[in-house]
Amino acid sequence: MKRILTGDRPTYDSFHLGNYIGSLKNRVKLQDEYETHVFIADLHALTTHFDKTAELEKNIKGLMLGYLSVGLDPKKVFFFLQSKVPEITELAYYLSVLTSRPLIARQPALKEKLDAREQDTVGLFYYPILMAADILAPRANLVPVGKDQKSHVEFARDIALKFNNLYGEVFPIPEPLIGEVPTLPGTDGQAKMGKSLGNAIFLTDSPGEVEKKVMSMYTDPKRIHSTDPGTVEGNPVFTYLDAFSVQSDKGKVQSLKEEYTKGQVGDIEVKKYLAQVLNNFLDPIRQRRDKLEKEPGLVERILKEGTEKVRIEAQKTLAEVKKAMKLDYF
Ligand code: TRP
Repeated sequence: MKRILTGDRPTYDSFHLGNYIGSLKNRVKLQDEYETHVFIADLHALTTHFDKTAELEKNIKGLMLGYLSVGLDPKKVFFFLQSKVPEITELAYYLSVLTSRPLIARQPALKEKLDAREQDTVGLFYYPILMAADILAPRANLVPVGKDQKSHVEFARDIALKFNNLYGEVFPIPEPLIGEVPTLPGTDGQAKMGKSLGNAIFLTDSPGEVEKKVMSMYTDPKRIHSTDPGTVEGNPVFTYLDAFSVQSDKGKVQSLKEEYTKGQVGDIEVKKYLAQVLNNFLDPIRQRRDKLEKEPGLVERILKEGTEKVRIEAQKTLAEVKKAMKLDYF
């Protein structure tokens, strides 16, 4: 069975609807088709959070609760914590001596940040190498990522090829798995929902918060009166309705679209309906999370068990790496 690996940086303690549509939903599906590894990239989070380390523990727990509450199943998925698999950082060093420095400097997914001198540290420069080690230590075949992360996976692929050519076949060559996932716009109409952009609805928001955010959502800016014909295309309220309505809502969504286009329904009414649709979607997720949160030590146990298993695998990989490199002396 092919092995997939994905991870998240614990820079926040909750996922938002954009994360759900963009990746969590797909992972829930993939867990039945592949041997799935999901990990929390706390070392990668340090590149931006070296001065906010006190937050990480809470964020790690929050993301774990997020995974479990949307339906990732610890019986199927290996969950692990990056910093607890030190073989990853060790492997990253061996990969680093094979890595061309100018190539990293041109890494599209990194270049913007480095150019902005925003967090221009050696740690950030090392980001792609560590990410390649994340992928290669458990010998993943497929890496589901967004388009913005594709170049990182391609880097991992190139370095795996280089290693295998030099020392012998140790690594399967990983491939990015770019799904046909739409990007969910923010509540403010910006192209993307973002954790720190103030335009996100979180999976942990209360029903009241969801309603409040929805009622102040950006819609068709040209529409002043509810009798003005409105635009459905590109209107985030309808984008969300399409993304989160269930089969039994579809008829209603269709008639709202028609009425909206003809100027027969107000924005308030459509938004009230959207808040209801979103809360129907979020209710079971919130309930599961509440329940999981009440089980002390649960998240820690799941993460520990998964990490132990992955660590054994990473140790095997590292032993093979050293053997292939003829570093298994003494
Ligand atoms: N860079 C990814 C992100 O910012 C997180 C990540 C780190 C990752 N290592 C990975 C994703 C390995 C997939 C595989 O979202």
